[in-house]
Amino acid sequence: MSEDTRGTSRIKGFADLFPPESDAFTRMEACGRDIFTRYGFAELRTPLLEFTGLFQRSIGAETDVVQKEMYTFQDRKGRSVTLRPEATAGVMRACIEAGLADGRGGPHRFFTMGPMFRYERPQKGRMRQFHQINCECLGTESPFADAELITMLWSFLSALGIADLTLKLNSLGCAQCRPAYMEALREYLAGVDETALCEDCRRRRESNPLRVLDCKQEGCRCVTEAAPRLLDHNCPECRAHFDTVLELLAKEGITPEIDHRLVRGLDYYCRTTFEVVSGNIGAQTAVAGGGRYDGLTAQLGGPDAPGVGFACGMERLALLLPPLGTPAPDFFIVAPDEAGRVQGFALAESLRRLGLSGELDYAGGSFKSLMRRAAKSGARYCCIIGPEEAAASLVTLRGMAGGEQESVPQAEAPARLAGLCADAPTTKNHNG
Ligand code: HAM
Repeated sequence: MSEDTRGTSRIKGFADLFPPESDAFTRMEACGRDIFTRYGFAELRTPLLEFTGLFQRSIGAETDVVQKEMYTFQDRKGRSVTLRPEATAGVMRACIEAGLADGRGGPHRFFTMGPMFRYERPQKGRMRQFHQINCECLGTESPFADAELITMLWSFLSALGIADLTLKLNSLGCAQCRPAYMEALREYLAGVDETALCEDCRRRRESNPLRVLDCKQEGCRCVTEAAPRLLDHNCPECRAHFDTVLELLAKEGITPEIDHRLVRGLDYYCRTTFEVVSGNIGAQTAVAGGGRYDGLTAQLGGPDAPGVGFACGMERLALLLPPLGTPAPDFFIVAPDEAGRVQGFALAESLRRLGLSGELDYAGGSFKSLMRRAAKSGARYCCIIGPEEAAASLVTLRGMAGGEQESVPQAEAPARLAGLCADAPTTKNHNG
């Protein structure tokens, strides 16, 4: 069915996030901020729109992202611009422009959170506008940075309460050792029956054979099962780098699965590459992916600064988050008449100034229907200002769980209610 393009419905692959989904996103962002700042990361916000050349030069002209998935259009001056399909390229561009890639004062550690855009076929866990939590550490070649970054990712995922994840790891080698590997891979692929490969891979086996290793088509997977392995072709420096990463992770109790075909779908990686996968979210199994990208800043025309980073897909993490009740509001103010409602309005403000949360009913109606709404709100206390209370400037505070109630002067009510609510906060289910 074709889409209605008049603007009366949302675009396919783009979502509106209402609670509790939006709560889940807020929770992930807050948890990320908390964990990442402990590791010295600070927030960087980069534009959603960049010149198209940035992504072509970094992600790679042969990748699916650049060839098939970018939202690219001309601006009013006829220049080609693209909605960011990922964050790394923009973060590197920003760091180069800010003079942070010149090797002084680093490493520089940044996290970014926000929407990315890829024109893919939408399905569970795959959207055209999706959200990433992205971390980049720029200015160090040390394997300690790789291990620390992966450990940080692992801490973040475990702080969110997400379990049953597998960390896949590989090393892509460096500019010294990768060319020989590519030759070995090209030779191997030249010798296989080309009808077993998909159309893309038939073309890519010469131009970009690593992409063949990454192909998810069944025929291509069978062909690459026995392909030469990157780790067997790593130079001694790359191998030592990889072994240090493994050793540091093992000390933290993190045991990755070595995946010889893990090359990632973007061209800028070298040495360490990793993905975190889950078997519980359908066909799109990767919840996070990343790796080292030494050489990327130079490729973008800046100084040559090594770096390592990762991104998590928030839609996919949301599918794995254990449910958490939202905090119950502290109060709900019931005032059937206008006079009481005016007093209730002032009372609600005083309560909020003390840090309490809740609402004033201003729809009116019978006392019974107001009390039903109070119960539905999930509030811990109901503040009733009926005609008699309004006349005497009183308010009746009623505990919604136990039904106990007391009448207090409105002037004293904020302090009294704050005292009552000071016990451990309770949570409610979202539907009340
Ligand atoms: P990526 O593997 O392309 O890496 O994306 C990272 C994560 O974003 C994926 O593992 C997945 O969870 C999520 N993701 C990707 N596409 C979609 C989609 N269409 N819908 C929902 N979720 C999606 C990068 O983007 C690199 N920039 C990561 C990186 C940072 N490497 C170094 N630094």
